[in-house]
Amino acid sequence: MPTSLAGQRVVIIGGSSGLGLATAALAREHGATVTIAGRSEDKLREASAALGEADTASVDISDESSVAALFAPYDHIDHLIITAGTLGPSGVTQQDLPTLQSVLEQRLWGAIYAVRAAAPKMTAGGSITLTSGGIAARPRAGAAMISVALAAVEALAPALALELAPVRVNCITPGVVLTPLQGSGPEAEARVAERGKTLPVGRAGNVDDLAQAYLMAMTNGYLTGEVLHIDGGGRWL
Ligand SMILES: NC(=O)c1ccc[n+]([C@@H]2O[C@H](COP(=O)([O-])OP(=O)(O)OC[C@H]3O[C@@H](n4cnc5c(N)ncnc54)[C@H](OP(=O)(O)O)[C@@H]3O)[C@@H](O)[C@H]2O)c1
Repeated sequence: MPTSLAGQRVVIIGGSSGLGLATAALAREHGATVTIAGRSEDKLREASAALGEADTASVDISDESSVAALFAPYDHIDHLIITAGTLGPSGVTQQDLPTLQSVLEQRLWGAIYAVRAAAPKMTAGGSITLTSGGIAARPRAGAAMISVALAAVEALAPALALELAPVRVNCITPGVVLTPLQGSGPEAEARVAERGKTLPVGRAGNVDDLAQAYLMAMTNGYLTGEVLHIDGGGRWL
């Protein structure tokens, strides 16, 4: 499978940390020009230094005008990846309505803002890759809205694959990976490692496992409308 991204423009919303940052590094290794985007200027600076000077852009994916401003400078984009997201309590009867609405705003409407702004600039062979999580199909008490939002993101990918063809649209659903989202320090490391031991593959994922999947979503010209579970088999437990 050809994996070259030489000369291609990749925008990663959520590229300043974790899965997005690892994907930025891999895309650059494969020749892409990458823009990493996120809210925190400090995180963007650190990530750019870690990558060896990447283009950065400040954006809040929950804010339509901020997302529009992110895409305004580009006349074309080959690949858009969205890994932006935070986690927090989202029980329907436990949180106030603005909190519940903000989950949808970030996870679902954020993806929609980005797709609407990017779509007119996407090249014909290009791709959009959204990100979900195992909680889309396996709810937990106290986290209903995140399940709802991510299930909607998984439904959005195949629908957009039809709507935006020939641009390809996919969704990646990661399993547990130790990133800043999961916390840091010995407690987080032990929790993630313990979870990993229960999986068919016997270990938690790492950011490179996921970066490879995002790379495939960009470079495999026959992959569209798919929700890829890169979770060590965790969804079958
Ligand atoms: N790690 C896991 O175990 C795991 C498992 C399942 C699913 N996922 C999903 O995979 C995605 C990436 O997770 P990760 O582990 O890489 O997390 P991470 O290390 O915390 O990175 C999240 C990235 O998103 C950015 N971000 C957060 N809110 C944003 C907003 N409103 N607007 C723009 N950028 C925003 C962050 O930068 P700023 O904070 O500066 O904005 C950061 O660059 C998330 O959607 C997560 O839910 C992760």
